[in-house]
Amino acid sequence: MRKKIVAGNWKMNTLPAEGVELAKGVAAGRAEVCSCVNFIVCPPFTHLWQVVETLKGTDIAVGAQDCATEAKGAYTGEIAASMIAALGCKYVILGHSERRQYYGETSATLNRKMEQAYANSLTPIYCVGENLEEREAGRHFDVVKAQIEEVVFNLTAEQFADLVIAYEPVWAIGTGKTATAEQAQEIHAYIREVLRSKFGAAADECPILYGGSCKPSNAQEIFAKADVDGGLIGGAALKAEDFLAIGKGF
Ligand code: PGA
Repeated sequence: MRKKIVAGNWKMNTLPAEGVELAKGVAAGRAEVCSCVNFIVCPPFTHLWQVVETLKGTDIAVGAQDCATEAKGAYTGEIAASMIAALGCKYVILGHSERRQYYGETSATLNRKMEQAYANSLTPIYCVGENLEEREAGRHFDVVKAQIEEVVFNLTAEQFADLVIAYEPVWAIGTGKTATAEQAQEIHAYIREVLRSKFGAAADECPILYGGSCKPSNAQEIFAKADVDGGLIGGAALKAEDFLAIGKGF
């Protein structure tokens, strides 16, 4: 049985006090959702610690949205994976399309970030996905395959056993456009096949999340698909009620 995961990517939203309130809201309603769902929230760096404290004693995990390529040293403005882990975080989102697009993250950068995450016992949520032009040209399978081969294929079997993948079509992120459940299933199954070619049966244990305008009204249909193991949620994760309702989609 693969893990079912609903992860909230808060992006650059919420001030510390608002983040704490949001986390409290998620904790307050958590019991209404099946305990089989693993909830993760990923606030901005500035209030990771406060959110970890707020969620102590609950089963809601906390993750960061990125980490540095280096372990420590003279890298002004960067946040090391060890710092994130020391706060009590368990996860780190890596390779989000906004990082690839606006901050020039490449597979070379991401290989180093992955290494830092594992060295500090953080589970990476590694994001892949094509943009609209690539989808329209029918290149989405190739794009996603390359994003996996260039990074995930460098992992050891042990590291791969501790990985979450998020498929997020760039054209569906924050646009209100969602991939259809069939489109999600088609590419999730493809991703699993690519993973199987390298890691064998372990690919059947890897959670693959869908992301891109996932909301309470479409989560159930998408999560019902065989190879969709949950969601990476942006906008709808900023309201505790909606975030929890997405968890009820299982
Ligand atoms: P969205 O973002 O749910 O607001 O589309 C998803 C994401 O980028 O992780």
